[in-house]
Amino acid sequence: MRGKFITFEGIDGSGKSTQLRMLAGELFSRGFDVLTTMEPGGTPLGRRLRKAFLETEENVSPLAELLLFAADRAQHVNFLIKPALAEGKIVISDRYADATFAYQGAGRGFPEKTVNQVIKLATDGLKPNLTLFFDLPVEKALLRTNSRSANGEQKNRMDLETAEFYARVRNAYLKIAEKEPKRFRIIDASGSTDEVQAQVVEIISEFFKKN
Ligand code: TYD
Repeated sequence: MRGKFITFEGIDGSGKSTQLRMLAGELFSRGFDVLTTMEPGGTPLGRRLRKAFLETEENVSPLAELLLFAADRAQHVNFLIKPALAEGKIVISDRYADATFAYQGAGRGFPEKTVNQVIKLATDGLKPNLTLFFDLPVEKALLRTNSRSANGEQKNRMDLETAEFYARVRNAYLKIAEKEPKRFRIIDASGSTDEVQAQVVEIISEFFKKN
């Protein structure tokens, strides 16, 4: 792998997608070859899967959900992420495998071992070089997502979960931060967009000095 693989994670409403766009712009202006992408939905097949399972109104079995996120990821890794890294690009993905660990593992309750096996299979062992976790108290995140939907933004199936669900998801992310402090960096996402961006730029600059 010649390029660098950076992922953004956070519970819904953490503001990570805005920060991703800002960082991509910043790196592009510094002359880096950047590819931004997302999960689910980073490939044409992934976009169809995304629509199928985030927007359906039928009950989705937790196992089907786990495997659909994995199918989306397998396609994404194989046809988009790995080729871009081989070309030396900086790939920045809005969510990746840690989301499965947090949402399907802690959120839905699949055992860690099962989730890790599925992740390994789907990613072929590809891990990010750096992950930024946009952290924010659950209540604050819910206020943000609720005001978004009041502004007409559509909610998907995962946006309808309870505060308890998101608390489990957040704790799972914090657990990854404890286990892998070098790769998985916590950003305080409760401040203004500029305050959050300053933290992102600091961590990224430090990362590129060392890598
Ligand atoms: P999306 O609209 O992309 O939300 P966000 O902007 O918060 O990333 O919806 C993706 C949803 O899918 C989000 O609620 C997180 C969830 N998700 C999982 O449950 N498992 C996964 O592996 C991934 C990648 C996402």
